[in-house]
Amino acid sequence: MKIPYNLILVGPPGAGKGTQAKRLQDRHGLCQISTGDMLRAEVNSGSPIGQQARAIMESGGLVSDEIVIAMLETRVQQPDCARGFILDGFPRTERQAMALDTMLARLGQSLDAVIELKVDEAALVDRVAGRFTCAKCGAGYHDRFKPTRVPGVCDVCGATDFKRRADDNRETMVARLAAYRSDTAPILPHYQRQGRLHAVDGMADMDHVAAEIESLLA
Ligand code: AP5
Repeated sequence: MKIPYNLILVGPPGAGKGTQAKRLQDRHGLCQISTGDMLRAEVNSGSPIGQQARAIMESGGLVSDEIVIAMLETRVQQPDCARGFILDGFPRTERQAMALDTMLARLGQSLDAVIELKVDEAALVDRVAGRFTCAKCGAGYHDRFKPTRVPGVCDVCGATDFKRRADDNRETMVARLAAYRSDTAPILPHYQRQGRLHAVDGMADMDHVAAEIESLLA
């Protein structure tokens, strides 16, 4: 794999973008850029951006393009992205996709691959409803698919407090899936035309999905 390597992981909520982005970050030293995590940090800090974003995120809608594009532009230029980045949850609209092209050209960078995690929508509600993370180190788990080794204890840091996302419920998932279909799926042909789009079976188990992604990056 050439360095720097810049890629996008795209797929509906619960497709496994965050799970696979973390693995790529650990394995290759690329930086994971999750606009969802960045927005949740703004919400938790009570910043003006967070105050604007909270209700939109809790209803499953999309935060304004201006806010996320500005956040991304600052983030990709930080030193930990020198080996490349994995965009997890961005771009999500045609406007964001166009802004990304312009931004990368201006920074003298390019996009190497766009990996679409293809999943069966019916499985996604179960995936997000069972998701939880360690409140201390952020390690991700799932009640059924990835439980902690010792019940109630984080495998990574040993903490015993966990949290669940406010938008991980059945009602909000309906809106999040609708936003994916109407705003995000239409950006895929843009990357297809550029010859950068690769589809991976996101219904396979996590190790298998990771191996398929690795084979595309080799
Ligand atoms: P965001 O945080 O980006 O959430 P999302 O896209 O809805 O995606 P998720 O984080 O829910 O899922 P994921 O694909 O990362 O799945 P994961 O790996 O965790 O966005 C949240 C909100 O922020 C948006 O609704 C919007 O309001 C706002 N926002 C963010 N970016 C924005 C933007 N660019 N523009 C505008 N608004 C924006 O996996 C899910 C679960 O399944 C986990 O428990 C995992 O353990 C399990 N799992 C993963 N892979 C597998 C597998 N292969 N088999 C079985 N289980 C698996």
